[in-house]
Amino acid sequence: MSSSPSLIFALLVLISAVATVSPVAATDHIVGANRGWNPGINYTLWANNHTFYVGDLISFRYQKTQYNVFEVNQTGYDNCTTEGAVGNWSSGKDFVPLNKAKRYYFICGNGQCFNGMKVSVLVHPLPPPPTAAKHSKLDSAAHIVSHWGLWSLMVSYALIWFGFGSF
Ligand SMILES: *[C@@H]1O[C@H](CO)[C@@H](O)[C@H](O)[C@H]1NC(C)=O
Ligand SMILES: *[C@@H]1O[C@H](CO)[C@@H](O)[C@H](O)[C@H]1NC(C)=O
Ligand SMILES: *[C@@H]1O[C@H](CO)[C@@H](O)[C@H](O)[C@H]1NC(C)=O
Ligand SMILES: *[C@@H]1O[C@H](CO)[C@@H](O)[C@H](O)[C@H]1NC(C)=O
Ligand SMILES: *[C@@H]1O[C@H](CO)[C@@H](O)[C@H](O)[C@H]1NC(C)=O
Repeated sequence: MSSSPSLIFALLVLISAVATVSPVAATDHIVGANRGWNPGINYTLWANNHTFYVGDLISFRYQKTQYNVFEVNQTGYDNCTTEGAVGNWSSGKDFVPLNKAKRYYFICGNGQCFNGMKVSVLVHPLPPPPTAAKHSKLDSAAHIVSHWGLWSLMVSYALIWFGFGSF
């Protein structure tokens, strides 16, 4: 029983540490949404409707016996050629990580690029955390102080509750 206050304290510290880290969710951008990766779709319209950030995924869903995916450069995209391709996928459900802030180019390598199976996406650097953008330095300092003030209050209560108050 004597070890439980320090255990509780460790748990509180852990919980507060986890709660302080704001999660940044990576988005999976499904090319063509429910129409998938197929001929006759204007993927420029699809791409214009999405914002891509570093760490996001782009995924291609298609009939693997008919189509595939090549990552190419701008020349490959403009001319529908896979020469010098940087990557290729053919599982029918391909997840491609967008790890760099740059423009990516993907085409289908079996001639269907000429029927619209090409997509280019501009990947942006991660935006700054919303709190840093919205609050002044003074505001966030006050925020941190009240945040830790609340925690130390709770920790004090926990210590008193679990017997430290008797010292
Ligand atoms: C796709 O849509 C874009 C934006 O409206 C347009 O500029 C482009 O010409 C279209 N592409 C095709 C192949 O129709
Ligand atoms: C753009 O996104 C909206 C909301 O997700 C959707 O309703 C609309 O159909 C999309 N338009 C295109 C061209 O993908
Ligand atoms: C791309 O195609 C254009 C015209 O279709 C041609 O002039 C150009 O040389 C081609 N570029 C490459 C790198 O093949
Ligand atoms: C794309 O790659 C091809 C083949 O490696 C190369 O000839 C061409 O110059 C490259 N184009 C660009 C815009 O980098
Ligand atoms: C596809 O990628 C693999 C490596 O992942 C490479 O060995 C192969 O040559 C590529 N295929 C084509 C057709 O570019």
